[in-house]
Amino acid sequence: MNHLELDLTVDFDSHRIHGRAIHHLEEHERAGGTVELHTRGLQIEKVQAEVDGNWAEAAYALADEDPVEGRMLAIEVPAGASRVAVDYRNLPEAEGLQWLDPDQTAGGKQPFLYSQGQSTHNRTWIPCFDDPSKRITFDAVLHVPPHLRAVMAAEDRSRPEEADRGIYRFHMPQPVPSYLIAMAVGDLVFRELGPRTGVWTEPSVLDLAARELEDTEKMVEAVEAMFGEYRWGRYDVLVLPPSFPLGGMENPRLTFATPTILAGDKSLVALIAHELAHSWSGNLVTNHTWNDFWLNEGFTVYLERRIQEELYGRQRSEMEAMLGRSHLDETIAELGADSRDTWLEGDLAGRHPDEAMTLVPYEKGYLLLRLIEETYGREAFDRFLRAYFDRHAFETMTTARFLDELEQELLSADPAKAASLRIEEWVHGPGVPDNAPVAESDAFDRVEAAAGAFLENGELPREGGTRWTAHEWIHFLRQLPADLPTEAMGRLDEAFSLTDSHNSEILTEWLLLSIRTGYEAADARLESFLATVGRRKFVKPLFEELVRRPGGLERAKQIYARTRRTYHAMTSSTVDEILGL
Ligand code: BES
Ligand code: ZN
Repeated sequence: MNHLELDLTVDFDSHRIHGRAIHHLEEHERAGGTVELHTRGLQIEKVQAEVDGNWAEAAYALADEDPVEGRMLAIEVPAGASRVAVDYRNLPEAEGLQWLDPDQTAGGKQPFLYSQGQSTHNRTWIPCFDDPSKRITFDAVLHVPPHLRAVMAAEDRSRPEEADRGIYRFHMPQPVPSYLIAMAVGDLVFRELGPRTGVWTEPSVLDLAARELEDTEKMVEAVEAMFGEYRWGRYDVLVLPPSFPLGGMENPRLTFATPTILAGDKSLVALIAHELAHSWSGNLVTNHTWNDFWLNEGFTVYLERRIQEELYGRQRSEMEAMLGRSHLDETIAELGADSRDTWLEGDLAGRHPDEAMTLVPYEKGYLLLRLIEETYGREAFDRFLRAYFDRHAFETMTTARFLDELEQELLSADPAKAASLRIEEWVHGPGVPDNAPVAESDAFDRVEAAAGAFLENGELPREGGTRWTAHEWIHFLRQLPADLPTEAMGRLDEAFSLTDSHNSEILTEWLLLSIRTGYEAADARLESFLATVGRRKFVKPLFEELVRRPGGLERAKQIYARTRRTYHAMTSSTVDEILGL
């Protein structure tokens, strides 16, 4: 199977999508035999095979439900068949989709639907071979309520005369793994940012989003200059409603992003750099299995920081690297210093891929690549990376093959340097080896001094009000201890209006500290934030922190009872676990 045709109807009343998925068979599949597709919670209505242009029913079997894989659909393919078709509908609970009521959107008048495939959620709305090792091209027709707009991570081939009937058409010419198929339906409008970049949002968010993302075209140019041509045509960003569970998702040609990056000062656009970077690491060269996830994410964080350095300077990228390291150390402390999940190469045997997705592949992967860069020089490393993306464009990569190739193409030129890297220890060992590069920031040194002065003699950070960037504030707040008196919290709040911060990252740090220190003046803000924002990166630590307080579990449950309906399945399953539900 190497090409997919979708013809799907989106029904907001029943929260179901129904229609037909046609898979084109490859040469070796046409002799007849069995082909297998992943499904989870799909109701199969009919399966057919096409032989010589004629469709006829084909026998099929749905295996028993496996908790990790769902149900495999085995189709008997008659000899000479060229395509197989599945008519189906999904369940309203499909984890790969989130259906939002109008009050959960910015506009408040129209419903909204979006999909999130990674890692293995697309099988809940498309019967497909849902594993990153294989790629397909696709065509899709979506039928949606006429007043709404459908978008996909694909070329838009919609015909203007069909829009008033709610028909939208898409084509994906580059082969992609199934987890990168994505769509959204809502009251959406578009604005251009540059010749091949643009942004989709609900109408009321468009101005803010277009200003915040104004550097997007420059970012594309920056990566191209370093790592080779952008091969996906357009690069657009879809800004979703606040319940979106992720920061961003690198759906090709159309990054999906949380609105919580719209801070008003471009301080959180590293996320766009990150998702854009996946157009090389991840979407072009794809992890062969989810155990190789660090090849997607570690490379992408490395590219992200290079983009940030290019656009906003080394100071900024170093601050971001330092914050990344601090979060990595926290994650490793939680997992346990010897945990198998702190190796770069993962081991998912028997587990759902989402379970082992921590910051380790991101930030430990970044550190290893930066170590190679610093050891062999940026020029040599860039040359290696650029050639690597070229050689393996539209292919997959395993950890073992990457290590072989790195050895051959770069390391073997200088074996003494190669030994100093201790790559085996990085990839197949726990924790962060002690030869890890260390990011440096004078600005953060000053922030630490300011935090020291505040803790020692209550001196408020003089530069805090006007000169500090979001990064400096985040770093400052992360220095403050759980036993900070609420009086000191109050003084900070009065001077810098932290409870009213419109920067989601600063606000989350402040709310965490408020829970920890028992600063009740932030309670109302905490609850309204948790009732609107479903981004797991924020929701998860806030609930964890709540539960740690005496009597906190009860309070957390009360809050969750009101906020749960906001959350996507990825977020609610995480909170369920924290609350023992
Ligand atoms: N590909 C990931 C999102 C993802 C990871 C979805 C694992 C499902 C399973 C995306 O590129 C990502 O890493 N997003 C981050 C933001 C980034 C700046 C670190 C996120 O959503 O927090
Ligand atoms: Zn990523």
